[in-house]
This record gives sequence, structure tokens and C-alpha cells, in this order.
Amino acid sequence: MADRFNTIAGWTLFSGVVALGLASISGHYFQADKEHRPEAMGYAIEGVAAEGGAEPAVVIEALLATADAAKGEATFKKCVACHTINQGGASGIGPNLYGIFGVAVGAHAAGFAYSDALKAKGGNWDWANMNEWLANPKKFAEGTKMSFAGISDPAERANLMVYLNAQGSNLPLPAVPAAAEGAEAGAEVAAAIVGDAVKGEQVFKKCMACHTVNAGGANGIGPNLNGVSGSKVGAHAAGFAYSDALTGKGGVWDDATMDAWLTNPRAFAAGNKMTFAGLSSAQDRADVIAYIKAAK
Ligand code: HEC
Ligand code: HEC
Repeated sequence: MADRFNTIAGWTLFSGVVALGLASISGHYFQADKEHRPEAMGYAIEGVAAEGGAEPAVVIEALLATADAAKGEATFKKCVACHTINQGGASGIGPNLYGIFGVAVGAHAAGFAYSDALKAKGGNWDWANMNEWLANPKKFAEGTKMSFAGISDPAERANLMVYLNAQGSNLPLPAVPAAAEGAEAGAEVAAAIVGDAVKGEQVFKKCMACHTVNAGGANGIGPNLNGVSGSKVGAHAAGFAYSDALTGKGGVWDDATMDAWLTNPRAFAAGNKMTFAGLSSAQDRADVIAYIKAAK
């Protein structure tokens, strides 16, 4: 009985996530053309129609915004029988997963024999399709050879995904749909938001306890940020003692990495020493990034 209840509860949660995901995808991309949704967008989920109008219980985007990569690393123990995730790690029963976000589905690990089922999916790994895949691999790609039941808890998937993303990928976190914040549906996605340097100066007040941004400004609790955009992550300010977590990230600060960092520093580089919760407003992030770039 308890098992049966869990299964039902799991499906209810999952269908909520999927229903919301589809609503948000269609909202973002198909607003102008609602009648012509591609058929591939959805699939039937048992129980959804019958239950009718169930409240979506969770929003994966919201879970991702507060996800904990350290917990995700613990969950990854479920995967290590088949997967490595270190850079250059060997493929085993499953492909190596280093840098998996943002790359083509079923094509990432050179020399690994992917199933036709997975190869045929197309597209790149992003937050939405990875969430579906990890919830139920067989449902996502019928005939896949990943014999893994899936992870039913959406919060556990969110933690796992930010962990995966921190291993060689830097995909910015998705915007939390406005519906989840109690506002009107149809929020702009972060990428479409244009930063305003003047407003960003106000936002930067939240950073000033730890950072200067003027040319030649001193390092404080945090490094001087003058010219940080375009520079190597965790290496910019001479004489500042960066954490290994940040220097270990590699790559260059661009708008996308900076946006991911400022959304949730801890998720971006677990163990870094910037003790700042993050800016939840995509507009604030865009504004402060514009301000930092413009600072002389
Ligand atoms: C029993 C072995 C096994 C386990 C356990 C397993 N996987 Fe897999 N995984 C595979 C196989 C095999 C494939 C290739 C699937 C195919 O080609 O159809 C795969 C594919 C993948 C892919 C797609 C990779 C690509 O290059 O497109 C991802 C992502 C992934 N697994 C993540 C995970 C995560 C995260 C876990 C743990 C929660 C996990 N897997 C657990 C065997 C496993
Ligand atoms: C409580 C102090 C604190 C606050 C507040 C803070 N930071 Fe930081 N910041 C740090 C520390 C410490 C680091 C170095 C992190 C490390 O090495 O792990 C850092 C690093 C950074 C970096 C990376 C710099 C580089 O050279 O790679 C950027 C960019 C940044 N912060 C921007 C901001 C912005 C923008 C804000 C405000 C919205 C902010 N920080 C708020 C302490 C803070």
C-alpha cells in the first residue's frame, strides 16, 4: 500500500513538472503560433487527464535555483557503476559525462556506442530534457540502453543536475517561470533581458561590502572587479587569494557564466568563498553585469 501511494504521489509530482514544463516551453517559444505545436512536444502521461486540473506541485526551475551541488554529488553515487564524469574519463557501461550540458544528446562521448533510441532524440542536453531523462530514461527514449529506473524526487534531480553542470559545463540556470513566483505567466527568459548600467550601479551596492570595481581599486573580502568580464574565472585580481573551487572552474567570464555565478554562486562553484546568496532577479543580474562592464 505504501509503495502504491508513493508511486501515485511520484506520478502526480512528475506529471505536474511535465505539465508545467510543457506550458512554459510553449509559452516561451510558441506564443505567436499556439495552434501549431509540434507533435513531438508531448506524450501521454497516464493519469493526467483523469485527474484533471491537478495543481502543479513543483517547478523544476525553482528547485534548480536553490539546488545544492554537494547533495547532487552524493546522488551521483547511483551513477558511478556506469559513468565517469572527470575530464577525459573513460566510458564504461555508460558514456563519460564530463561537460554533458549543452552538447548533442547521444553523441557526446567519442567511441561510445549509443543506442539508436538516444541518438534519434536530437537536440542538446539542457535543463528540461535532462530533467525528463533522469526522471525516467525509458520514457524519454524508448529503447535506450541505460538500464536505470530514474530518480523520482524532483529536488534530488535538481541537485544532481547542478552537480553535473558544474563538471565541465556552465549552462546558465533557467529562469524561474513567472507563474511560479505568483506573477503573470510569460516571463522573459534571462537571455532576452538587456542590462542597464545605471540601474546596475544601485544593484552593486549589494556587492560593495566585499568588492571595488574602479580601475586600480583594492581587493577586499572579494577581488577588485574592474575588467573582470572577459578575463579568466578566478584569476583576474592580482594578489587576491581565490578559492580552489573558483580557480578550478576554468573558462572565461562572459555574460552567461557571470549570470550563472550571480544567480547562485554556490551552485556555480561548490566550495567557493563568496558568501553571497545570489541575485534572484534576472533583470538585476543583467543590470549589474552591464555596470561592471562599463566601470572605468
Ligand atoms: C546501469 C548503468 C547505468 C546507470 C546506473 C546510469 N546510467 Fe546513464 N547511461 C547508461 C548507458 C548505457 C547510456 C547510453 C544510453 C543509450 O545510448 O541509449 C547512458 C547515458 C546517459 C546520459 C546521456 C549521455 C550522452 O552522451 O548523451 C546521461 C546524461 C546519463 N546517462 C546520466 C546518468 C546519471 C546522472 C545517472 C545516475 C543518476 C546514470 N546515468 C545512471 C548507463 C547507466
Ligand atoms: C560577502 C562578500 C561578497 C559579496 C557581498 C559579494 N561578493 Fe563577489 N566575491 C567575494 C569573494 C570572497 C570572491 C572570491 C570567491 C572565491 O575565490 O571563491 C568573489 C568573487 C566574485 C567574482 C569573480 C571574480 C574573479 O576575479 O573571478 C565576481 C564576478 C563577483 N564576485 C561579483 C559579485 C557581485 C556582482 C556581487 C553583488 C551582486 C558580489 N560579488 C557580492 C565576496 C563577495
